[in-house]
Amino acid sequence: MKTFPFASLFLLLLSICSSAQSFGHSLLPLFSLDPSYVNVNHGSYGSASKYVQEKLREYQMKAELNPDRWYRIDVQLEMNKLREKLSAYVNCDPDDLVIVDNASAGINSILKSLKFRSNETILYYNVAYGMVKLTLQYVSTEIFTQEQIVQIDLDHQTIQNTELLLKTTQDAISKIANVKLIVFDHISSLPSVRFDVETMIKYFRGKGILTLVDGAHALGGIELDLKKLDPDFYVTNTHKWLYTQRSSCLVYVRKDLQKLIHPIITSFGYLQSFQSEFFWLGTRDYSAYLTISDAIDFRRTIANESEIFAYNHQLAIQTGTLLARLWNSSTLTTDERYISTMNNIELPAFINTTEKMNDLYQKLINEHNIFLPMIEFDKKFYCRISAQIYMELSDYEKVGHIVLNAVSTMKFQRKITNMN
Ligand SMILES: Cc1ncc(COP(=O)(O)O)c(C=O)c1O
Ligand SMILES: *[C@@H]1O[C@H](CO)[C@@H](O)[C@H](O)[C@H]1NC(C)=O
Ligand SMILES: *[C@@H]1O[C@H](CO)[C@@H](O)[C@H](O)[C@H]1NC(C)=O
Ligand SMILES: *[C@@H]1O[C@H](CO)[C@@H](O)[C@H](O)[C@H]1NC(C)=O
Ligand SMILES: *[C@@H]1O[C@H](CO)[C@@H](O)[C@H](O)[C@H]1NC(C)=O
Ligand SMILES: *[C@@H]1O[C@H](CO)[C@@H](O)[C@H](O)[C@H]1NC(C)=O
Repeated sequence: MKTFPFASLFLLLLSICSSAQSFGHSLLPLFSLDPSYVNVNHGSYGSASKYVQEKLREYQMKAELNPDRWYRIDVQLEMNKLREKLSAYVNCDPDDLVIVDNASAGINSILKSLKFRSNETILYYNVAYGMVKLTLQYVSTEIFTQEQIVQIDLDHQTIQNTELLLKTTQDAISKIANVKLIVFDHISSLPSVRFDVETMIKYFRGKGILTLVDGAHALGGIELDLKKLDPDFYVTNTHKWLYTQRSSCLVYVRKDLQKLIHPIITSFGYLQSFQSEFFWLGTRDYSAYLTISDAIDFRRTIANESEIFAYNHQLAIQTGTLLARLWNSSTLTTDERYISTMNNIELPAFINTTEKMNDLYQKLINEHNIFLPMIEFDKKFYCRISAQIYMELSDYEKVGHIVLNAVSTMKFQRKITNMN
C-alpha cells in the first residue's frame, strides 16, 4: 500500500520535468481507473487524479492530528486561499463564489432562496437536467402554490442555432406577462450541447430577466470566464472535468444578488455574508473541496489549459465523425461551436425505439462493461460520448465496433423470436 503515493508522486514529478506531456493512454497511470476499463463516459462522475487523491488523504490526516486546530483555524485559511486560486482560474472576485457539495445543492439553494411573486414566471428548456426540472416543480408547487414554470421545447435545429433559440424563447416571453428568471445549461447533459451563454445572458439581461446557468459540465472542460459571461447565477461541478475528488461545486452569485441567496442548510453564518453563510453548514469533511487547488496544479503538469480544452474538444469532434461513419448515421450537432468535450452520435438504424435503445444500453453494461448514456431526442436515438485526456480515438473505435456487434446479435435474436 505504501508504494502507491510514492509511485504517483514520482509520476507527477516526472511529468513536471518532461515539459510537453503527450495526451492519450500515457496519462492513464495518473488516474485510478482500471486499465482494462474503457471510460467513454467521464462526464457523469469525473475521475480524480492519483495526485489529487493523495492530497485528499493528507488533508484528512491533518484534520485527525488536531481537529480543533484544523476546523477552527486551518480549514478557514485553506478555504480562503482556495477561493483566491479558483477565482483567478474562472476570472471573478473571490468573494463572489462559494463551494457546495454538488450542483443539486447549488441549484436548490438558488431556486429556493429567490422569493418569487405570484405573478412571476420562470422559464427553462426541455433539455434541462432532471434535478433542475424537479426542483423547479418543487418550487412551483410548494412555494408559489400555483403553476409558474414554463418549459420551452428545443428541437435539433433550435438547439444549435442561438438566433433561432432566442426567437423561440422570445415567442414564449411575449406570451407571458412577467418572466423573472430563466434557467439554462452551459453544456447540457443529454443530449450534450454547448450553448452560447454569453449571447443568451446579454439578451435576457436586456429584457430584465435574471439568468441561472447550469454549468455542471463546464469547469475544466471549456474556457470559463465569469467576468466576460457576467451571469446572475452560475453553478459548476469541479469533480466532473477538473479532476477533483468527488464532490464539490462552485456557486457564483452576482454581488448585488448575494443577500438574497441562502444555503439549503441554515447555520452560524446566517445573515452575515454570502461567504460566511455557505462556509459552515455543520461539521463536514472539507478535504474534497480543498483538492480543487491540487487539481489545478495537476493540470498544469499535463499541459496548459487551452491545450487540455483543445485536445478534448478535437477528440469529441473526431469521435463523432468516426462513429457516425462507422454506424452510417449522423451527429446531432454539425457546427463545432455547439460541441464541447462530449458529442452525440445517432445509434445504428436498427435502434429505432426506446425499448431497443434500453436493451442496447443494458447489453453493453452487462456483456461489455461499457457505460454509454443514450437518449431519444427529436425522434432520433443518440448515445453520448465523453472525450478525455487519457483517451484516444482508437478507444471509441473499439466501442463503435462492439456496438455494431451488439446490434447485430439483437437483430439475430429478434428474428429468432419472430419465428417462434
Ligand atoms: C447538466 C447537469 N446539471 C446538474 C447535474 C447534477 O450534478 P450533481 O450530481 O453534482 O448535483 C449534472 C450531473 O450530471 C448535470 O449533467
Ligand atoms: C449534495 O449536496 C447536498 C447538500 O450539501 C447533500 O445533502 C447531499 O448529500 C449531496 N449529495 C451527495 C450525493 O453527496
Ligand atoms: C405583480 O404583482 C406585484 C404585487 O405583488 C405588483 O406590484 C406588480 O405590478 C405585478 N406585476 C405585473 C407585471 O403584473
Ligand atoms: C499553451 O501552449 C501552446 C502551445 O504549446 C501555446 O501556443 C499557447 O500560447 C499556450 N497558452 C498559454 C495561455 O500559455
Ligand atoms: C445508410 O443510411 C442511409 C439512410 O440514412 C441508407 O439510405 C443507406 O442504405 C445506408 N447504407 C448502409 C450501407 O447501411
Ligand atoms: C424500426 O426498424 C425496423 C427495421 O429494423 C422496422 O421494421 C420498424 O418498422 C421500425 N420501427 C419504427 C418504429 O420505426
